[in-house]
Amino acid sequence: MTNTILELRNISKRYGDKKVLNDISLKVNLGDMILIKGSSGAGKSTLLNILAFLEAKDCGEIFWKGKNIDSLTIKEKKGIRKREMGFIFQEFNLFENLTVKENLDVVLSLTTKTTKEDRKGRIKEYLQKFQMEDRGDTYVKLLSGGERQRVAIVRTFLTDSTIVFADEPSANVDDKNKDIIKGYLVELKNAGKSIVIVSHDDYYDKIANRIYEIKNGYIKKIPGEGER
Ligand SMILES: Nc1ncnc2c1ncn2[C@@H]1O[C@H](COP(=O)(O)OP(=O)(O)OP(=O)(O)O)[C@@H](O)[C@H]1O
Ligand SMILES: [Mg+2]
Repeated sequence: MTNTILELRNISKRYGDKKVLNDISLKVNLGDMILIKGSSGAGKSTLLNILAFLEAKDCGEIFWKGKNIDSLTIKEKKGIRKREMGFIFQEFNLFENLTVKENLDVVLSLTTKTTKEDRKGRIKEYLQKFQMEDRGDTYVKLLSGGERQRVAIVRTFLTDSTIVFADEPSANVDDKNKDIIKGYLVELKNAGKSIVIVSHDDYYDKIANRIYEIKNGYIKKIPGEGER
């Protein structure tokens, strides 16, 4: 049995005249922590959006647990995204006018079959675990960038996502929160989830088990470094 969750085969993507991604092949296996690096505009977010079925590819194939996603309906793809994918995206984030607890409750009630009481208990447990209990009743619009990212991470723990995508998880975050977020990502991996991080800097090199770089539209594996 294969342990590949998500696979891209020869994916290309252009915006107008600009070819952003060229012949990209990539496998995400169970328990992988993959880091994709590249300079600003290299195509990292585009690649992440394609991996999460949020952006259409021009050509190539995408397999989710061995199944070509072109054979899935929009509803099936949405279902996978909702139940099995977690997102730590700065621009794909939280409901500003709900509190932290309410935000977590929304996602739990959408992705799991639980009673309000069960959800309350679970949310409390996780906020405690991540030392965010005192922020539970705070409106998201009043949180800092780092705190938002932390809530987004707690959200990915709460749901039973198989794979978590993190787009520059420590952008606009101070050093202290940066370290906390890195620690959470390691915990997510230890919880058995596959993780794909994109980042322009070297901050995540040490926790990744494979590192790639996107340059001029092509992806290249950075050999050795971080290999475990
Ligand atoms: N919807 C779009 N329409 C047109 N061009 C786009 C679109 N999305 C991205 N691009 C272009 O594709 C290229 C890659 O963008 P992308 O956002 O993937 O880069 P990135 O590596 O994530 O950069 P950053 O590190 O700054 O976030 C850029 O030149 C960008 O302008
Ligand atoms: Mg980006």
